[in-house]
Parts: sequence; structure tokens; C-alpha cells
Amino acid sequence: MASRAGSLNGKKNSEKTKIAVLGMGHVGLPTALGMADLGWEVIGADSNPQTIATLKQVKSWFYEPDLEPLLEKHLKSGLFQPTANVDQAIADSTILFVCVGTPQGDDGKADLTQIENIARMVARNLNGYKLIVEKSTVPAITAQWVKKTITRYAQIEARNAAKTAKNGKHAGEVPHFDVASNPEFLQEGRAVENFFHPDRIVMGVDSDRARELLEAIYRPLNCPIVVTNPTTSELIKHTANAFLSTKISFINMVSDICEAVGADVTNVAQGIGLDPRIGTGFLSAGIGFGGYCFPKDLRAFAYLGEEHGVDCSMLREVERINTRRIDLFMKKVRRALWVVQGKTIAVLGLAFKPRTDDIREAPALRIVEALLREGASVRLYDPEGMPNAKRMLPEETGRVAYCASAYEAAEGTNAVLLLTEWADFRNLDLERVHDLMDVPLMIDGRNLYDPAQMQRAGFEYHSMGRDTPVQFPASIVKHHPPAKRSAAQKTSKTRKRERAVVG
Ligand code: UDX
Repeated sequence: MASRAGSLNGKKNSEKTKIAVLGMGHVGLPTALGMADLGWEVIGADSNPQTIATLKQVKSWFYEPDLEPLLEKHLKSGLFQPTANVDQAIADSTILFVCVGTPQGDDGKADLTQIENIARMVARNLNGYKLIVEKSTVPAITAQWVKKTITRYAQIEARNAAKTAKNGKHAGEVPHFDVASNPEFLQEGRAVENFFHPDRIVMGVDSDRARELLEAIYRPLNCPIVVTNPTTSELIKHTANAFLSTKISFINMVSDICEAVGADVTNVAQGIGLDPRIGTGFLSAGIGFGGYCFPKDLRAFAYLGEEHGVDCSMLREVERINTRRIDLFMKKVRRALWVVQGKTIAVLGLAFKPRTDDIREAPALRIVEALLREGASVRLYDPEGMPNAKRMLPEETGRVAYCASAYEAAEGTNAVLLLTEWADFRNLDLERVHDLMDVPLMIDGRNLYDPAQMQRAGFEYHSMGRDTPVQFPASIVKHHPPAKRSAAQKTSKTRKRERAVVG
């Protein structure tokens, strides 16, 4: 990535303004390195000394494509300086990007403890003008609280300083500061790419100075910029994630209807997605969404609405549909295997999505837990997610095995489950997998293969929202005895089964 050092008032960025990114996680680290690559001097602060020590050894503590080369480049260039001294980072910088965690609290409400801590630290270190930028996903009106908190504690600091006259003639004054919202839209696995090629930048500001500073940072990225007030900007982020989650649950519901009537959900998604009003993205049916963002953001957004008396049952339904995906998938497993108890099952994919090692709220892990509860033993493989998975679910002889490849996982199994849409799993050597398995049965939770191709390769293949024989709705079946199906209505699987019985 070429450096595109911008300028502010004719001066080199680094001479004029220093940036601190507070929180070196999945959002903070790519953001800090991206801004260093744009030519800014960036302090990357995190209170966890282990995280900082790892960064100094030119390693990221989580897997994210293209991140480590950027880390190496800007540790060398000196534009990125990691530190565990968060107070010092705040004191030394003018623009502070807040990238700390906003986990789920009680009842799905966002837990903003870490945001409040940062606001209090800023108050302690307010030694001149500062722009505090919320990047973490937060509910609407958090910026107002941050502003109020900084003012409250900075006034106390100023009063104390006046008493001890520590700050000389400036004691008692609270320096000016701004709080802005600039939500991240970084997808794990594509965070670096998303930073440099954003669809849009949203900035919620309530002063020209804040707007100018943020525009100076993002100008080289050359993308549409939506400027609004901080509360609207906060709401844009929650709305985006809620809408994308809704799209996924919607297509998953359609997928169930497709299975019931014998339609193909991938074709339905294509058929509707080509309408630009709908769009093709986020219409892949499967075992549902996971990760650190969608599930908690959806709950926090519903909580926010309900707190203000808004009926958010639609969002609650989106979550309910997503939670039910696991039960529906397990029904598929039982239908295919009959008895799950005592079966050996290969699970390909543990991370909540491809190109990440993140297993937080991963649907795959919930399926693994369900398989174990039903008495199966599992052989697990994921290209990046296994170290994290092992911490949650340790290896156990005869019950839980971690394997070095998809092929090792498939060896001697009664079924292979495809649970994460890694590119590697789309291109398996099917003949090899077939030969390694005891029973060539594949249940594909992400629709990675074409049913006809799998049939040709000799697999019994089940997927999501496709290839199920036509069934008449219960009401019709109840009143009219089902007519014998014609040869044309029979699926090739039924015909094969009949041939097998006759033969
Ligand atoms: C999300 C948002 O996309 C990003 O803008 C935000 O800032 C952080 O949260 P991320 O959590 O990395 O990003 O994952 P994303 O790529 O959005 O996928 C979320 C989940 O939805 C994954 O589990 C994925 O497998 C699932 N998914 C996605 C589907 O099941 N079907 C789809 O069509 C798309």
C-alpha cells in the first residue's frame, strides 16, 4: 500500500497533528495502520501490555489478511507507535479515535463501561484542544454522554489543579474539545481492504473544526462522505448492521420455504438480487450470522428502540430466525444420519466467517456443541480458527479431535458438515474426500457446492434451501390423500433409491 501523506494547512500531517487510536482490536489496529499509511503519525494505545508486546514483535494478536505487512512497514517508518500507556497517548495527541469494546450488557443493552473509562482518561489528560472520535459501535446519544462526562471530570481536574496551582495561570480552565462519531464499517477478513476502499465515510460532527480534521484524514480515500450530527451518525451504524442482519434472516426464512416447496434459494436470491433496489449482497442462505458485531448490535439496537417505546419486534424476529438456524440444521443432520449418537462427524469451518480466526458467536461452534450433546464425536478443521476454538473446546480423545487438514478431518467419518464458507472448502478434491469417508454424506450449511456435481461425485448431499422433494402443504394432505407422484415428479435421489431396492 503506497503512502499518501496528505497535508493540513500546508504542513506535513505528522508535524501538525498527532493521532491516537485507543484500543488495538479488530477495528483499532487496521484503522491505526491505515491512517499511518496515509501519512499520519499514529500512536496505537492499548491497556493490555501483552497486546502491545505482540505488536512490537511485528505480530498481530488476531488473524487479519494484509495486516502484518502494514504493521511491519509502519513500525519501520516510525509512523505507528504502539504503547500500553493510554494516558500518555491521549496527552500527546490531538485526534483520539476510540476503538474500545462495547460488549453486550444485561438484557442486550450495550455495555459502555470502556467508553466511559476513556472519557474519564481524556478528562484527566485534556492539555489542549482535542477531537474525540467514536469509532466503536455505540447506541445513539453516546457522543452526548461522552461530551458530558469529559466536561464533568475535566472541571473537577481543573478545580483541583487551581487549588494546588499546578497548572500555573491556566489552572481552572477546561480546554476546548469536540466529540464526533465516525463509525467503522470494517468487515473482519477484509478490514484493510475496507479501510482503503470504503463505500462511504460517515462523520457525525457538531463543529467545523471537527469536520475539517476528519475530512483531512479521509480526503485521500476519495469516497462519498455523509456529514451529519453525531446522534444520526451513531444511528446510521446500528441501522446498517440491523438491515444487513435482516437481509440474512429474510433469505434464511425464504430458504425454509424453498425447502418445503422444492425451490432453489440460490436462484431465488439471484432472481431478486439483480433488482438494484434489492441488491445481491447478503442474500446467502445458511446457518445464520455470527461474530462480534451483528448479534450484539441487533440486540442493542432493539433495546435502544424499546427503551424509547418503539416497537422493535421486527428486529427481535430477525434474531429469533437466526437463533433457530442451529435447530433447523440439527434436524437436517438427524434426518440424514437417523441416529447421531456414536457417529463420527467431520466439521469443516469453525470461525464465524472466512478469512478470520474469530469464533465469537460462531454458528459452527453451536452446531459442534449440539453434536457432542447428542453423543457424536467430532473431527474439526478450520484454516485459522482452531487455536481459539481449542481454548473453548479442548481436544478430548475419542470425542473431540482437531485435524491438520480438511482431508484428515474427513477420514473415517459418517458425515462431513460444511459450516464456514472458506474458499478452500469450495475446491475440495471430492474424490479424495469420498474415498476417505466411511459414509460419503455431506451436509453443506453454506451452499458451497452444486447438488448435481455432488451427486456425480457419489455423495449423498444435503444443503440449505435446495434439492428437497416437493411436499404438499399439511392442509392439502389432510383433506386429500396424496396422489401417487408421477415419474417426472420424482427426484433423482428417489429414483436412485428405488433402483437400489429393485437391484
Ligand atoms: C459486520 C459488518 O458487515 C461491518 O460493516 C461492521 O462494521 C462489523 O460487522 P463482520 O462481523 O466482519 O462485519 O461480518 P460480515 O461479513 O458482515 O458477516 C457477518 C455474518 O453474516 C457472518 O457470520 C457471515 O457468515 C454471515 N452472512 C453474511 C450470511 O450468513 N449470509 C450472507 O449473505 C452474508
